[in-house]
Amino acid sequence: MRYGYFDDEHREYLITKPDTPLPWINYLGCEEYFGIISNTAGGYSFYKDPRLRRLTRYRYNNTPLDSSGRYIYLRDDDPSTHPTGPVFWSPTWQPTRHPLEEYECRHGLGYTIIRSKLDGIESQIRYFVPLGESLEIWELTLINHREQLADLSIFSTIEFCLWDAWDDATNYQRNLSIGEVEVVDDVIYHKTEYRERRNHFAYFACSEKLSGFDTQREAFLGPYRGWESPQAVEVGQMSATVACGWQPIGAQHVKVSLAAGERKRIIFILGYHENPNDEKFDPPDSQTLNKHTVKPIITRYLRAEEVESAFQALGAYWEELLNKLQVTTPDNHTNRMVNIWNVYQVMATFNLSRSASYFESGIGRGIGFRDSNQDLLGFVQLVPERARERILDLAATQLPSGGAYHQYQPLTKRGNNDIGGDFNDDPLWLVLSVAAYIKETGDWDILDETVPYDNSPGTEEPLYDHLQRSIQYTLDRKGPHGLPLIGRADWNDCLNLNCFSDTPGQSFQTTTNKDGKIAESVFIAGLFILAANEMLDIAKRHKGKKQAEVYAKATQEMEQAIWDAGWDGEWFRRAYDDFGDPVGSKQCDEGKIFIEPQGICVMAGLGICDDRAAQALHAVAERLATPHGIVLQQPAYSRYYLRLGEISSYPPGYKENASIFCHNNPWIMIAETMIGRGDRSHDYYLRINPSAREEISELHRCEPYVYPQMIAGRDSPIHGEAKNSWLTGTAAWNYVAITQWILGIRPTFEGLNVSPIFPASWDGFKATRIYRGVRYDIQVERHGPGNKVELVVDGQSIEATIIPIPKADIKELKVIARIT
Ligand code: GLC
Ligand code: GLC
Repeated sequence: MRYGYFDDEHREYLITKPDTPLPWINYLGCEEYFGIISNTAGGYSFYKDPRLRRLTRYRYNNTPLDSSGRYIYLRDDDPSTHPTGPVFWSPTWQPTRHPLEEYECRHGLGYTIIRSKLDGIESQIRYFVPLGESLEIWELTLINHREQLADLSIFSTIEFCLWDAWDDATNYQRNLSIGEVEVVDDVIYHKTEYRERRNHFAYFACSEKLSGFDTQREAFLGPYRGWESPQAVEVGQMSATVACGWQPIGAQHVKVSLAAGERKRIIFILGYHENPNDEKFDPPDSQTLNKHTVKPIITRYLRAEEVESAFQALGAYWEELLNKLQVTTPDNHTNRMVNIWNVYQVMATFNLSRSASYFESGIGRGIGFRDSNQDLLGFVQLVPERARERILDLAATQLPSGGAYHQYQPLTKRGNNDIGGDFNDDPLWLVLSVAAYIKETGDWDILDETVPYDNSPGTEEPLYDHLQRSIQYTLDRKGPHGLPLIGRADWNDCLNLNCFSDTPGQSFQTTTNKDGKIAESVFIAGLFILAANEMLDIAKRHKGKKQAEVYAKATQEMEQAIWDAGWDGEWFRRAYDDFGDPVGSKQCDEGKIFIEPQGICVMAGLGICDDRAAQALHAVAERLATPHGIVLQQPAYSRYYLRLGEISSYPPGYKENASIFCHNNPWIMIAETMIGRGDRSHDYYLRINPSAREEISELHRCEPYVYPQMIAGRDSPIHGEAKNSWLTGTAAWNYVAITQWILGIRPTFEGLNVSPIFPASWDGFKATRIYRGVRYDIQVERHGPGNKVELVVDGQSIEATIIPIPKADIKELKVIARIT
């Protein structure tokens, strides 16, 4: 069953039923000001940091789901003209949930439009954040389709958050006394804590003269009432409250009279603004907010033409970003994900890491080191300047040991261990992101940028040295089999082999671990080879042959260690636990085989020239693949194992305990292409492709336009049900798998490589790729069932599959790839 459909031409997903299985969300903003918005206008907004600069309040896990948001109410002020209609309703369905005659929500790139109709009143609200601004626009258009005049009241509402979302949700003894607002010239200013150390405030403004306002929540809602039936809306009258403590809100009342057929546009803006510290107040010795600096912005965006041109600019911005790669293949699920939605999700993960989504509360996690480095793999081509900046930010949180904080807070950019530390895989991902960035841009200079360790002035070294330390970090931490020590965990956060936690509620991720010298990770070994091979190439060009030899030797040794102790006979083992016993081996009762080492080791090139890569992938197909994707391990852990940690804390089929953890499915897709199996690779690709799962939305439940982190595995009673959509490494990795390996358009240090490994049934495909300023028009033609590639570039046959970087004056290349 579907709840909407893809409008590919307009790059929108159109939701036709408001009661989707879960709130289906979108993101507003792609620079500094962000919001999440659901298909019924639920969600919240923040500036840069969803924990520390939260503008509006949101109550997660509420009943009904998703009941705080950017809500507008419409009220029939003369109900006698429409005796059968309701007195008031929500044009976004929530929060009143009054049935609507027409409803549609269009989630587009950076905007959401919700249109509905009831009793002859049509409304459309367009929500978006203009580029370069820290504000959001709600542009409401009303049309009176009745045959007579309609007297309507419009109420717009938001509930302010007192900035630190964590404190806001817990510290009531203080917070219920500190709320402050000003209402001047019909603009509501939220200025809690502005009197002391904050220099920022929020504002809520409207293009019309207000007929009333409220800023005290309980006055607006009425005692013991919720957002579904505010008293002020019911009676059509606000009480001009100026909040003093309790729960400050912004609620505005506008009255309109619409003649038959008349249409009217009303603009609301919600924004964030900072004043210079010495100009906070006006007059200077007062406690009155200085509004001079924000006034021009408010005036500007309350004008319809400005709103329209900002919306057009947003469209043009996305058009340019998407044009970096566009493909036309015989498979529409591939096309729309590659051309639109996967890129869009990559941008969201780049911006927000794992901080704010419907499943991430915005208070738990900042920018993850491992996560963000992986997100960069899919992002580098989109806005290379921002990728560069992110790489340098991440590197600046690296520790002198080469290790990494697991995350940093976007506002301060300083690393912290709030969600754990000592994940021994962390530093290696930095090498992969830097390599991807250089392959995309050719910007070798980034390696000479000096970057501090742990943000400490005086410790600066070139980025190249940071990468060296990343590699060295693994070499300094090898275990009894010569494999890397796992530390707290590796990519799989929940494989906690040094934790031994038996205390309820203790966090597996942050509790003090044993300083284990036994537990080793085959996954890190594979990742190390992948990273050290990149480092070898980088060193060769940047430092000469000698340096490169160091890495060649290190990878050979690691490879040997994997074959000696990491190969189980038919697949790669996962790890060794603290007792020196293998994890992910035939010898185990449960957790005999894991997906991660099969993916990463084959991606690192292991077993490709003999049969072992194929054997490992065969084992994946036989033991881990399901119609809904590839599960993380089998058999699932049926009980809690002290020596394994959080992985076995999850019920079978969920999360790291044998769900389809979508993040590493693309590793298997890539691995399959590396042994030349395009059919199987693309088959795996489609199993988790959200568009291909649209038909089973009632089972899948999450949005059909973005990847979820996980789909319940075959051990779950609801096999196929997805959770944790949007913020997941799945976005970047799937983008890499489909574009660089299956479609085979892959940046390298020397130029663009074109060597697709795609389904035999396709007779070809077309692509345009902007790469290092040159537009590549690529036509792939299948002349035989295999994977052999012959390239003709601007009419000339070339020997290799890498197209050398053309001379500076060449801006377009025509590439024909003949596949036989
Ligand atoms: C989550 C984390 C990621 C980790 C994965 C597996 O997606 O964000 O860092 O690798 O889980 O545990
Ligand atoms: C929990 C989650 C895991 C996630 C980790 C992040 O362990 O189960 O998926 O990666 O938290 O800290």
